[in-house]
Amino acid sequence: MSLHTELQNVTAKLVVEGVCKSFNSANGRVDALQDINLRVNEGEFVCLVGPSGCGKSTLLNLVAGLDKPDKGIISVDEAPVSGPGRDRMVMFQEHALFPWLNVFDNVMFGLKLKPNLTDSERREVAKFYLNLVGLDKFAKSSIHELSGGMRQRVALARSLAPNPRILLMDETFGALDALTREQLYGELQQIWQKRKKTILFVTHNIREAVCLGDRVVLFSPHPGKIVQIFDIDLPRLRDINDPALTALSSEITATLKHQIGANVAE
Ligand SMILES: Nc1ncnc2c1ncn2[C@@H]1O[C@H](COP(=O)(O)OP(=O)(O)OP(=O)(O)O)[C@@H](O)[C@H]1O
Ligand SMILES: [Mg+2]
Repeated sequence: MSLHTELQNVTAKLVVEGVCKSFNSANGRVDALQDINLRVNEGEFVCLVGPSGCGKSTLLNLVAGLDKPDKGIISVDEAPVSGPGRDRMVMFQEHALFPWLNVFDNVMFGLKLKPNLTDSERREVAKFYLNLVGLDKFAKSSIHELSGGMRQRVALARSLAPNPRILLMDETFGALDALTREQLYGELQQIWQKRKKTILFVTHNIREAVCLGDRVVLFSPHPGKIVQIFDIDLPRLRDINDPALTALSSEITATLKHQIGANVAE
Protein backbone atom coordinates (compact mmCIF):
# COMPACT_ATOMS: atom_id res chain seq x y z
CA MET A 1 0.00 0.00 0.00
CA SER A 2 1.65 3.20 -1.10
CA LEU A 3 1.15 6.63 0.35
CA HIS A 4 -0.39 7.67 -2.95
CA THR A 5 -3.02 4.88 -2.79
CA GLU A 6 -3.62 5.69 0.82
CA LEU A 7 -4.53 9.30 0.09
CA GLN A 8 -6.85 8.48 -2.82
CA ASN A 9 -10.55 9.30 -2.47
CA VAL A 10 -12.54 6.24 -1.48
CA THR A 11 -16.25 5.86 -0.90
CA ALA A 12 -18.87 3.11 -0.73
CA LYS A 13 -22.53 2.27 -1.10
CA LEU A 14 -24.35 1.43 2.11
CA VAL A 15 -27.53 -0.65 2.13
CA VAL A 16 -29.78 -1.26 5.14
CA GLU A 17 -32.51 -3.82 4.46
CA GLY A 18 -35.36 -4.80 6.79
CA VAL A 19 -33.35 -4.01 9.91
CA CYS A 20 -35.04 -4.50 13.30
CA LYS A 21 -33.46 -4.06 16.72
CA SER A 22 -34.99 -4.39 20.19
CA PHE A 23 -33.52 -4.03 23.64
CA ASN A 24 -34.62 -5.51 26.94
CA SER A 25 -34.44 -2.92 29.66
CA ALA A 26 -35.70 -2.57 33.24
CA ASN A 27 -38.89 -1.05 31.78
CA GLY A 28 -39.48 -3.95 29.41
CA ARG A 29 -38.79 -4.44 25.73
CA VAL A 30 -37.95 -1.41 23.59
CA ASP A 31 -38.35 -1.64 19.82
CA ALA A 32 -35.50 0.71 18.92
CA LEU A 33 -35.73 0.07 15.17
CA GLN A 34 -38.48 -1.55 13.13
CA ASP A 35 -38.06 -2.56 9.49
CA ILE A 36 -35.51 0.06 8.46
CA ASN A 37 -34.73 0.22 4.73
CA LEU A 38 -32.24 2.76 3.46
CA ARG A 39 -29.80 3.00 0.57
CA VAL A 40 -26.99 5.50 0.79
CA ASN A 41 -25.17 6.02 -2.50
CA GLU A 42 -21.43 6.31 -2.93
CA GLY A 43 -20.29 9.73 -1.80
CA GLU A 44 -23.73 10.71 -0.57
CA PHE A 45 -24.23 12.79 2.59
CA VAL A 46 -27.32 11.51 4.43
CA CYS A 47 -28.64 12.97 7.68
CA LEU A 48 -30.78 11.02 10.14
CA VAL A 49 -33.14 13.24 12.12
CA GLY A 50 -35.77 12.58 14.76
CA PRO A 51 -36.65 13.09 18.38
CA SER A 52 -34.73 11.54 21.24
CA GLY A 53 -35.10 7.78 21.44
CA CYS A 54 -36.10 7.17 17.81
CA GLY A 55 -33.14 4.87 17.18
CA LYS A 56 -30.68 7.12 15.35
CA SER A 57 -27.67 6.08 17.41
CA THR A 58 -28.81 2.47 17.37
CA LEU A 59 -28.77 2.49 13.56
CA LEU A 60 -25.36 4.15 13.48
CA ASN A 61 -23.97 1.55 15.89
CA LEU A 62 -25.35 -1.26 13.74
CA VAL A 63 -23.76 0.23 10.61
CA ALA A 64 -20.51 0.61 12.54
CA GLY A 65 -20.73 -3.08 13.43
CA LEU A 66 -20.64 -2.31 17.17
CA ASP A 67 -23.92 -4.20 17.59
CA LYS A 68 -25.93 -6.66 15.47
CA PRO A 69 -29.48 -6.33 14.10
CA ASP A 70 -32.10 -8.82 15.32
CA LYS A 71 -33.40 -9.06 11.77
CA GLY A 72 -32.33 -7.71 8.40
CA ILE A 73 -28.99 -7.04 6.82
CA ILE A 74 -26.56 -4.15 6.46
CA SER A 75 -24.05 -4.21 3.64
CA VAL A 76 -21.21 -2.05 2.38
CA ASP A 77 -20.53 -2.45 -1.35
CA GLU A 78 -22.55 -5.69 -1.30
CA ALA A 79 -20.52 -7.20 1.59
CA PRO A 80 -22.53 -7.85 4.78
CA VAL A 81 -21.35 -5.96 7.88
CA SER A 82 -20.40 -8.46 10.58
CA GLY A 83 -18.38 -6.25 12.92
CA PRO A 84 -16.34 -3.06 13.07
CA GLY A 85 -14.04 -2.46 10.11
CA ARG A 86 -11.61 0.09 8.82
CA ASP A 87 -13.97 0.93 5.96
CA ARG A 88 -16.28 2.66 8.52
CA MET A 89 -15.15 5.21 11.10
CA VAL A 90 -17.40 6.60 13.83
CA MET A 91 -17.18 10.08 15.26
CA PHE A 92 -19.20 10.61 18.44
CA GLN A 93 -20.43 13.73 20.19
CA GLU A 94 -17.88 13.17 22.92
CA HIS A 95 -14.76 13.57 20.90
CA ALA A 96 -13.04 10.77 22.81
CA LEU A 97 -9.58 12.14 22.12
CA PHE A 98 -6.71 10.85 24.23
CA PRO A 99 -5.78 13.69 26.59
CA TRP A 100 -2.34 12.22 27.24
CA LEU A 101 -1.42 12.39 23.55
CA ASN A 102 -0.81 15.65 21.70
CA VAL A 103 -2.83 16.66 18.62
CA PHE A 104 -0.47 14.99 16.14
CA ASP A 105 -0.31 11.72 18.09
CA ASN A 106 -4.08 11.61 18.40
CA VAL A 107 -4.31 11.65 14.60
CA MET A 108 -1.44 9.14 14.33
CA PHE A 109 -3.35 6.81 16.66
CA GLY A 110 -6.00 6.12 14.01
CA LEU A 111 -3.23 5.12 11.62
CA LYS A 112 -2.15 2.16 13.73
CA LEU A 113 -4.77 0.33 11.69
CA LYS A 114 -2.47 0.74 8.70
CA PRO A 115 0.41 -1.66 9.33
CA ASN A 116 1.48 -1.52 5.69
CA LEU A 117 2.55 2.10 5.90
CA THR A 118 5.99 3.02 7.18
CA ASP A 119 6.22 5.33 10.16
CA SER A 120 7.27 8.25 7.97
CA GLU A 121 4.34 7.59 5.62
CA ARG A 122 1.96 7.59 8.59
CA ARG A 123 3.40 10.92 9.65
CA GLU A 124 2.79 12.26 6.13
CA VAL A 125 -0.83 11.11 6.29
CA ALA A 126 -1.35 12.65 9.75
CA LYS A 127 0.11 15.95 8.51
CA PHE A 128 -2.14 15.86 5.46
CA TYR A 129 -5.30 15.56 7.58
CA LEU A 130 -4.22 18.10 10.19
CA ASN A 131 -3.67 20.47 7.31
CA LEU A 132 -7.10 19.59 5.88
CA VAL A 133 -8.81 20.58 9.16
CA GLY A 134 -6.63 23.69 9.49
CA LEU A 135 -4.72 22.58 12.58
CA ASP A 136 -1.23 22.02 11.18
CA LYS A 137 0.14 24.76 13.45
CA PHE A 138 -1.27 23.00 16.52
CA ALA A 139 0.31 19.60 15.93
CA LYS A 140 2.30 19.72 19.16
CA SER A 141 -0.48 21.21 21.32
CA SER A 142 -2.05 19.30 24.19
CA ILE A 143 -5.72 18.49 23.87
CA HIS A 144 -6.60 20.55 26.97
CA GLU A 145 -5.16 23.67 25.29
CA LEU A 146 -7.73 23.47 22.48
CA SER A 147 -11.24 24.93 22.19
CA GLY A 148 -14.22 22.61 21.70
CA GLY A 149 -14.31 23.36 17.98
CA MET A 150 -10.60 22.63 17.59
CA ARG A 151 -11.03 19.33 19.44
CA GLN A 152 -13.79 18.32 17.04
CA ARG A 153 -11.46 19.17 14.15
CA VAL A 154 -8.82 16.88 15.65
CA ALA A 155 -11.45 14.17 16.05
CA LEU A 156 -12.46 14.66 12.42
CA ALA A 157 -8.83 14.43 11.26
CA ARG A 158 -8.38 11.27 13.34
CA SER A 159 -11.52 9.69 11.83
CA LEU A 160 -10.48 10.61 8.29
CA ALA A 161 -6.84 9.56 8.59
CA PRO A 162 -7.40 5.81 8.10
CA ASN A 163 -9.22 6.78 4.88
CA PRO A 164 -12.55 5.06 5.61
CA ARG A 165 -15.13 4.66 2.84
CA ILE A 166 -17.93 5.66 5.17
CA LEU A 167 -17.90 8.23 7.95
CA LEU A 168 -20.50 7.83 10.70
CA MET A 169 -21.12 10.97 12.75
CA ASP A 170 -23.36 11.00 15.84
CA GLU A 171 -24.39 14.47 17.08
CA THR A 172 -20.84 15.47 16.37
CA PHE A 173 -21.39 19.19 16.79
CA GLY A 174 -24.06 18.96 19.49
CA ALA A 175 -21.91 20.26 22.33
CA LEU A 176 -20.53 23.29 20.47
CA ASP A 177 -21.70 26.91 20.55
CA ALA A 178 -23.71 28.16 17.57
CA LEU A 179 -20.92 30.20 15.96
CA THR A 180 -18.39 27.38 16.10
CA ARG A 181 -20.99 25.00 14.73
CA GLU A 182 -21.72 27.29 11.78
CA GLN A 183 -18.04 27.45 10.93
CA LEU A 184 -17.72 23.67 11.10
CA TYR A 185 -20.74 23.15 8.82
CA GLY A 186 -18.84 25.00 6.11
CA GLU A 187 -15.61 23.15 6.80
CA LEU A 188 -17.27 19.74 6.85
CA GLN A 189 -18.99 20.39 3.50
CA GLN A 190 -15.68 21.44 1.98
CA ILE A 191 -13.82 18.45 3.37
CA TRP A 192 -16.55 16.08 2.18
CA GLN A 193 -16.35 17.58 -1.32
CA LYS A 194 -12.57 17.20 -1.34
CA ARG A 195 -12.40 13.70 0.14
CA LYS A 196 -15.58 12.18 -1.36
CA LYS A 197 -16.75 10.14 1.62
CA THR A 198 -20.13 8.54 2.12
CA ILE A 199 -21.43 10.20 5.30
CA LEU A 200 -24.21 9.16 7.65
CA PHE A 201 -24.78 12.04 10.05
CA VAL A 202 -27.09 11.84 13.06
CA THR A 203 -28.65 14.97 14.53
CA HIS A 204 -31.87 16.05 16.23
CA ASN A 205 -31.46 19.48 14.60
CA ILE A 206 -33.37 19.77 11.33
CA ARG A 207 -31.64 22.96 10.20
CA GLU A 208 -28.27 21.29 10.64
CA ALA A 209 -29.51 18.28 8.64
CA VAL A 210 -30.81 20.49 5.81
CA CYS A 211 -27.54 22.43 5.77
CA LEU A 212 -25.42 19.30 5.43
CA GLY A 213 -27.44 16.52 3.81
CA ASP A 214 -28.12 15.49 0.23
CA ARG A 215 -31.07 13.74 1.84
CA VAL A 216 -32.70 14.05 5.24
CA VAL A 217 -34.25 10.91 6.71
CA LEU A 218 -36.95 11.52 9.32
CA PHE A 219 -37.44 8.95 12.07
CA SER A 220 -40.32 8.57 14.51
CA PRO A 221 -39.87 6.87 17.88
CA HIS A 222 -41.25 3.76 19.65
CA PRO A 223 -40.82 1.87 17.50
CA GLY A 224 -38.08 3.70 15.58
CA LYS A 225 -39.23 3.92 11.96
CA ILE A 226 -38.46 6.01 8.89
CA VAL A 227 -41.45 8.27 8.26
CA GLN A 228 -40.20 10.32 5.33
CA ILE A 229 -37.10 11.04 3.26
CA PHE A 230 -36.49 14.53 1.85
CA ASP A 231 -34.18 15.34 -1.06
CA ILE A 232 -32.32 18.57 -0.37
CA ASP A 233 -31.52 20.26 -3.64
CA LEU A 234 -30.07 23.51 -2.32
CA PRO A 235 -26.76 24.46 -3.94
CA ARG A 236 -23.53 24.00 -2.00
CA LEU A 237 -21.70 25.31 -0.07
CA ARG A 238 -24.76 25.92 2.03
CA ASP A 239 -24.96 28.62 4.62
CA ILE A 240 -27.11 27.76 7.63
CA ASN A 241 -28.54 31.32 7.58
CA ASP A 242 -29.65 31.18 3.95
CA PRO A 243 -33.40 32.05 3.77
CA ALA A 244 -34.10 29.17 1.36
CA LEU A 245 -32.56 26.78 3.87
CA THR A 246 -34.63 28.31 6.67
CA ALA A 247 -37.82 27.90 4.63
CA LEU A 248 -37.09 24.25 3.84
CA SER A 249 -36.19 23.50 7.47
CA SER A 250 -39.51 25.00 8.61
CA GLU A 251 -41.37 22.87 6.08
CA ILE A 252 -39.66 19.69 7.28
CA THR A 253 -40.22 20.63 10.93
CA ALA A 254 -43.92 21.15 10.23
CA THR A 255 -44.09 17.72 8.57
CA LEU A 256 -42.40 16.11 11.52
CA LYS A 257 -44.70 17.80 14.02
CA HIS A 258 -47.69 16.81 11.96
CA GLN A 259 -46.58 13.21 11.49
CA ILE A 260 -45.35 12.39 14.95
CA GLY A 261 -46.40 15.33 17.10
CA ALA A 262 -42.88 15.63 18.37
CA ASN A 263 -41.01 18.53 19.86
CA VAL A 264 -38.03 18.86 17.60
CA ALA A 265 -35.31 21.45 17.37
CA GLU A 266 -35.44 23.49 14.20
N1 LIG B 1 -28.16 -0.69 25.11
C1 LIG B 1 -29.46 -0.40 25.28
N2 LIG B 1 -30.20 -1.04 26.20
C2 LIG B 1 -31.52 -0.77 26.35
N3 LIG B 1 -32.19 0.14 25.62
C3 LIG B 1 -31.50 0.81 24.69
C4 LIG B 1 -30.10 0.59 24.47
N4 LIG B 1 -29.67 1.41 23.46
C5 LIG B 1 -30.76 2.12 23.09
N5 LIG B 1 -31.85 1.76 23.81
C6 LIG B 1 -33.21 2.29 23.66
O1 LIG B 1 -33.53 2.26 22.27
C7 LIG B 1 -34.21 3.45 21.89
C8 LIG B 1 -33.43 4.16 20.81
O2 LIG B 1 -32.23 4.68 21.39
P1 LIG B 1 -31.16 5.54 20.57
O3 LIG B 1 -30.04 5.81 21.50
O4 LIG B 1 -30.85 4.83 19.31
O5 LIG B 1 -32.00 6.86 20.26
P2 LIG B 1 -31.51 8.22 19.58
O6 LIG B 1 -32.44 8.48 18.46
O7 LIG B 1 -30.06 8.16 19.28
O8 LIG B 1 -31.80 9.28 20.75
P3 LIG B 1 -30.99 10.63 21.14
O9 LIG B 1 -31.42 11.69 20.16
O10 LIG B 1 -31.50 10.93 22.54
O11 LIG B 1 -29.53 10.34 21.11
C9 LIG B 1 -34.40 4.26 23.16
O12 LIG B 1 -35.68 4.01 23.69
C10 LIG B 1 -33.33 3.73 24.09
O13 LIG B 1 -33.72 3.82 25.44
MG1 LIG C 1 -28.39 9.19 19.98
